[in-house]
Amino acid sequence: MDEYDRRSFITTSLPGLLGVTMALPALTAFATRANAFQGRIKENGAINWDAFLTAIEKEAAKQHLDNWSENDYIKRASAIMKRLNIKDPGLEAAFLNAERGIGNKRVDFIPMIEKKKDYHVTLLQFEEEEEISHHDHPEMTGVILNATGEIEVWNYDMLAEREDKEDVLLLQTNHTMLSKGQVSTLTSKERNIHRLKAKKFTQLIDIFAPPYDKQKIADSSWFDVDPEGYKGQLEIYQAKRR
Ligand SMILES: [Fe+2]
Repeated sequence: MDEYDRRSFITTSLPGLLGVTMALPALTAFATRANAFQGRIKENGAINWDAFLTAIEKEAAKQHLDNWSENDYIKRASAIMKRLNIKDPGLEAAFLNAERGIGNKRVDFIPMIEKKKDYHVTLLQFEEEEEISHHDHPEMTGVILNATGEIEVWNYDMLAEREDKEDVLLLQTNHTMLSKGQVSTLTSKERNIHRLKAKKFTQLIDIFAPPYDKQKIADSSWFDVDPEGYKGQLEIYQAKRR
């Protein structure tokens, strides 16, 4: 099983991150962002990277409202994400950077290709059979677009945990093959734990809202899941926090 440590990854990737940030085209003028989404393009037409970020930023900013609905947000963010033109030059630097990881036998992260107060965007790259094992996203939502490839996704809800928090029961609520152009979502309450395993070379674009910060990274958990169903019950699995 492929393992990685988000903490060390983010730390060790900072030079790479700075490289990506600097390489992003200087053309990302505010006017382009503002116009491309609401103005020049027809409804449901493909949107460019800047328009995509503008639209997501607007949706993610609503998380501070008392009546914010995570479910409404992920629906809107999914719709925006499905319209993203993944061939947009604004994304090119991130994809090029990810290519450096081809052949290294682990999942590649290009973290925070866009980092804002209310969200961040990460690019993930898998080669065939590479996987990210069971992990959660504390108090976060995630909207994940398959930009290219095919990947199997399992989602779970936390069903119960012992007092020591180490032993838990997970309820598998979703198991799908995510094809190119499709979106997978999770909220702080539903489908928050997932596992991903690529059927072939796959690149995913993830939006996390709110974004990871030190506390969220510290609060994140990885799970060792007993592949046998719990006491013969379908879809319920016993797991241990690592
Ligand atoms: Fe995840």
